[in-house]
Amino acid sequence: MKTGYVLAGVLLAAVNGPGAAEPSTRLAWTPETLAFVRNGNADRGEVLAEACEGCHAATPENADSEFPYLQGQLANYLYKQLQDYKTGSRSNEIMVGISAGMSDEDMADVSAWYRRQPAAPARKVDEVSDAARALVNRGDSTRMLAPCAVCHGSSGHGQAQDTPALAAQKATYLEQTMLAYKSGARHNDIYRRMRLIVQQLSDEEIRQLARYYAGLEH
Ligand code: HEC
Ligand code: HEC
Repeated sequence: MKTGYVLAGVLLAAVNGPGAAEPSTRLAWTPETLAFVRNGNADRGEVLAEACEGCHAATPENADSEFPYLQGQLANYLYKQLQDYKTGSRSNEIMVGISAGMSDEDMADVSAWYRRQPAAPARKVDEVSDAARALVNRGDSTRMLAPCAVCHGSSGHGQAQDTPALAAQKATYLEQTMLAYKSGARHNDIYRRMRLIVQQLSDEEIRQLARYYAGLEH
């Protein structure tokens, strides 16, 4: 569906990027890396995750914190983010510190464990704008914006290789990270896929999109 938009996005990415001297990530999805992540040991990951749950637990007490949920997220995506924090491609004081002490194996194992955990329940959000729904499902040809659903899946569950699930993620986190792509503070998206999109959205559209996904059952 909507191949035209996707192609337009890819072409735009080719024109605009990489541009900057720094690559967006140091991670390459080679067959070896994909197999390595696929073979992560969830049992070992469960033990490692004890150090994460204080911030990342999917409990009601944690529902209003700024920390993103990891439960049910694609293992590839989690692994890439941990690598990006460790190599400095994505910056956040807490996570750069935590990832510095993790081996590749730790990252694969903890990602495997989180992938298997049930996602947090979606939150009730009152009326999401029709404009947000349209951006998700149809995109906007006047701005050459592909529908979010093309990459993130029609129900926001994410897909291969490393496009994250967004359904039932916290709205505050989704909004904050999209604003970080918009300002360029977050720049670890390969081919600038997210930056190119979000730079064309207003802050209000970003807020609405965050609420849309927070209210979607995973
Ligand atoms: C003290 C709180 C804290 C602890 C403990 C913590 N994190 Fe985080 N984590 C954060 C914050 C804050 C963010 C969002 C940072 C940002 O905006 O880049 C985050 C983001 C992440 C992300 C990116 C999620 C996404 O959707 O992009 C991953 C993956 C992650 N943490 C994994 C872990 C793992 C694995 C552990 C345990 C080994 C852990 N974290 C421990 C606070 C914490
Ligand atoms: C061309 C494919 C593509 C399209 C279209 C797309 N995304 Fe993304 N999105 C990605 C990829 C790939 C990533 C992960 C990038 C990275 O590694 O940081 C991502 C990451 C994100 C994140 C960060 C999630 C997290 O846990 O930190 C959010 C939020 C997001 N996208 C929202 C959207 C919204 C809203 C739209 C529609 C307006 C959209 N995306 C359209 C590919 C896409």
